[in-house]
Amino acid sequence: MIHLRHVSHNFGSHWALKNFSLDLDKGGFLFLVGPSGAGKTTLLRILHGAIALQRGQAVVCGFDLQTIKPKAIPLLRREVSVVFQDFKILPQRTVFANVALALEVRNMPRPLLQRRVRAVLRGLDLESKAHVSCAELSGGEQQRVAVARAVVVGPQLLLADEPTGNLDRELAMRLMSLFLQFHAHGSTVILATHNQELLSCLPEAKIVHIEDGSIVWANWSLTE
Ligand SMILES: Nc1ncnc2c1ncn2[C@@H]1O[C@H](COP(=O)(O)OP(=O)(O)OP(=O)(O)O)[C@@H](O)[C@H]1O
Ligand SMILES: [Mg+2]
Repeated sequence: MIHLRHVSHNFGSHWALKNFSLDLDKGGFLFLVGPSGAGKTTLLRILHGAIALQRGQAVVCGFDLQTIKPKAIPLLRREVSVVFQDFKILPQRTVFANVALALEVRNMPRPLLQRRVRAVLRGLDLESKAHVSCAELSGGEQQRVAVARAVVVGPQLLLADEPTGNLDRELAMRLMSLFLQFHAHGSTVILATHNQELLSCLPEAKIVHIEDGSIVWANWSLTE
């Protein structure tokens, strides 16, 4: 599902990722941990084509990021969903509209779309907010909308960047159980987090600890 070899990325003179290599099989669950500025978001941005690969090799869901053409990036994004650290939801649109958008783009028939969106909103306790404008939501609610939008399309790969940052413990655990369900259905998940408690929710998950752009520790042999 993911194959990275010697991936490095610099912003000017600062190396945000240094010589990053790892493999993750389909259906795997990976926690990316490490202090602020370690390079977690940068790695996730490379994986879904938001920033171009500068150095090294990267293959994601069968797409070779060294040679991918700009017009193929939307195809990659059909397979890879992202829960962004800063949400990136459309504040003037309702919760329902935000979550439905990705399915509309895929031309899903309306009755099926409505069923899917409602089921995901129910799972995230957002049903009662379906027709509220996102600008009126709390930070934690907006975060759950961002998660709903990412999971509703049933992606092969789900990237979640600090998805529990604005949530209380109970909501964080509920969200985590949604990711676990998703994983149980065969999706591959990468979750960047500062929340150590999440790690104990899935003891068999892979964990990579990043500091200053480099992997300093992992609980498995990184390149299998
Ligand atoms: N667009 C950018 N331009 C310049 N520097 C950047 C940019 N994005 C990230 N960086 C730098 O790259 C390094 C890694 O940033 P990144 O956002 O990947 O860290 P992070 O591990 O996600 O941190 P956090 O836990 O705070 O979200 C940081 O030093 C950051 O300042
Ligand atoms: Mg980050």
